[in-house]
Amino acid sequence: MRRCARGAWLIAPFLGLLVRLGAAEATPSSGKFIAITTHRSALVFFADQTGVLYQRSFGRIPVTPGKSLPDSTRYEEALPCYGSGYLLEPALQVVHADGNTSTELRYVAHESSAESANVSVTRIHLRDRYYDFFVDLCFRTYAAEDVIEQWTEISNRESAPVTLGRFASAAPKFQASSYWVSQFYGDVLREGELVEERLAPGLKILDSKLTVRAHLNRNPSFMLSLDGPAQEETGEVIGGTLAWSGNFSFGFDVDSDARLRVLAGISPLGAERRLQPGKTFVTPAMLWSWSAAGKGQVSRNFHRWARRYGIRDGDKPRPVLLNNWETTFFDFNETKLLALFDGARDLGIDLFLLDDGWFSDKDPKNHERIGLGDWQTNPRILPHGLSFLADQAHQRGFGFGIWMEPESVHLGSKLYRDHPDWIMRQPHRELQAPNTQLLLDLTRPETRDYVWKAIDRVLGENPGITYLKWDANRVAPQPGSSFLPADEQQHLPVDYQRALYEIMQRMKEKYPNVTAMLCAGGGGRVDYAALKYFHSFWPSDSTDPLQRIYIQWGYSHLFPAWALSSHITSMGHRPMKFSIDVAFTGALGIDRDVAKMSEDDHVALKQGVRVYREHVRDLVQHGDLYRLESPYDNKRAVLSYIAEDRTRALVFLYQLRETAMGPVKLRGLDPTRLYRAHELNLPRGEKSRLAIEDRVVGGDELMTTGFASPLRRAIESAVIEFTTEAK
Ligand code: DGJ
Repeated sequence: MRRCARGAWLIAPFLGLLVRLGAAEATPSSGKFIAITTHRSALVFFADQTGVLYQRSFGRIPVTPGKSLPDSTRYEEALPCYGSGYLLEPALQVVHADGNTSTELRYVAHESSAESANVSVTRIHLRDRYYDFFVDLCFRTYAAEDVIEQWTEISNRESAPVTLGRFASAAPKFQASSYWVSQFYGDVLREGELVEERLAPGLKILDSKLTVRAHLNRNPSFMLSLDGPAQEETGEVIGGTLAWSGNFSFGFDVDSDARLRVLAGISPLGAERRLQPGKTFVTPAMLWSWSAAGKGQVSRNFHRWARRYGIRDGDKPRPVLLNNWETTFFDFNETKLLALFDGARDLGIDLFLLDDGWFSDKDPKNHERIGLGDWQTNPRILPHGLSFLADQAHQRGFGFGIWMEPESVHLGSKLYRDHPDWIMRQPHRELQAPNTQLLLDLTRPETRDYVWKAIDRVLGENPGITYLKWDANRVAPQPGSSFLPADEQQHLPVDYQRALYEIMQRMKEKYPNVTAMLCAGGGGRVDYAALKYFHSFWPSDSTDPLQRIYIQWGYSHLFPAWALSSHITSMGHRPMKFSIDVAFTGALGIDRDVAKMSEDDHVALKQGVRVYREHVRDLVQHGDLYRLESPYDNKRAVLSYIAEDRTRALVFLYQLRETAMGPVKLRGLDPTRLYRAHELNLPRGEKSRLAIEDRVVGGDELMTTGFASPLRRAIESAVIEFTTEAK
């Protein structure tokens, strides 16, 4: 087999060979295979002689695809359409201009082009047999990372609008003895909970209906394991994550012959679309990664991809922050903030992040948040303004950042008084406004422009601000718009997100040096569409390190630790060392008043920041994650990061409950090399209890026999560094 430079393969059906793809070879008479490949995976389609497009396999790169697979049936169709004889859950549902409720798509052509040596795009063109209605199945492959990005483009060239009821981004099918799906479920303070279940026959939907802050209860990601529950390093697993910040729907449809169809995309609920003639609707991208080496490899694939392509400035180190939120909440003023600055002077932080509450309208009687939407600095608490604070921070050797919630408005704000029609609401319905806070309707161009100008003004007038935390604390219970026409009200859930991305894009373009954190009242917005514009995300308002072990474990399945903001706080009242060691496996921050802590804690914190900068940050960002012992199944959690060249490793041990435990066995080391062990971040005056401290051990031994944990009691932790020694 020869790899095609353009990332797609045309497979000669009867020879079982892969040959270079070219438009001239796409002759409809013989039927043809189209394989979308990465280095270790393939998604293979087959267009038969009549032009029906089937999906043949998704996973291992096939050697003889034409021979090994059974005849195609309706249930193998690549994009099942409503009304055309496919009697299960459809991926596409269209009412054509004349009212016909069926769609029958046929293969027209396909083409592939390289965007770089590693990235290729393939488009398979389909059209309805009768109507001027076109669908392109689009794929971007990231060969080295084994990630496939898939989306659909739907074009109406009929004479009048068509209505799209369903418009999945992807609808792959699988054949296995059993299917196990892991979701990342939760709520405020407990996001990212890993829940795995075996799929039973029928349709299982995992979705979100919150429109904004849409991932509060469930991240738009899953892991699908074939033939048994997902294992870390063995078995076939497919990771999927939708690059979309709004409502999503994943349907898992197991039919009577035990075949599984996955339908992934925007939730169709309340989102029916009228597509005007001449217009194309582009779905968000679904990102896939398949591995036969368990979910651990799938995670590593996504992490590597995120660093190179998925997350803004993925190769740059994230700043160490001091954030005031959990120290002060709304109770702060300039004097208090300057005291926090002074306390942080010798900690080694990169930046101070001022959280919610710095704005107001000018009336001193008013509640702090009444200026939400007006974005004027509150002169009572910050008499010298934001630039003064930024200067003060810089004088002490660190940068300055602020919090904003750009999509929200307070009922008492000037913005609301001036433009009551700019909010999301439905006519003749009582406003649901908890905390008297509402969401702006970003589909209205003036509102969108206003929101951008507000961000631009705050950043532009205060050039000392080099960090922005973008929060969104409201869900959208009344998704209506006074801007959208009556027959396009249902466009709001989609058009809102598109407008949001437009503002985020402007921020990224105009302020390339402002680092940005994505937050939505905890982990209410964590996805790869928004992360293109952000450097990190806030996974949860729970910063109790014990809880965070589970939360960070969950997110680690699809998202890299270096983009996950992880702060040392006093939540949970855990030992300082434990808080620091847990926060190490993230983008480190601190939410503590240094002046008010014990000297021991101060020393520990200072040491923690130093250890993080010197030993941890780089490896967590550029190394490969191995999840060794899950907190869900064990009384301890163990994870490690291994340098790509396997010369260095960091192992994080968290004892959750007091019990005797067996040896810790590592993975991913070079078995032929020797490694010296050294425990990091020990509390002042304490000696390591690690039996192999400062000893040299073979990589093979560390992976087969392992080493004894130095931990004994609950809520203890250890960070061990392994460095290679010359033999
Ligand atoms: C919710 C965020 O998750 C918190 O970190 C904090 O910024 C508050 N909002 C402020 O209102």
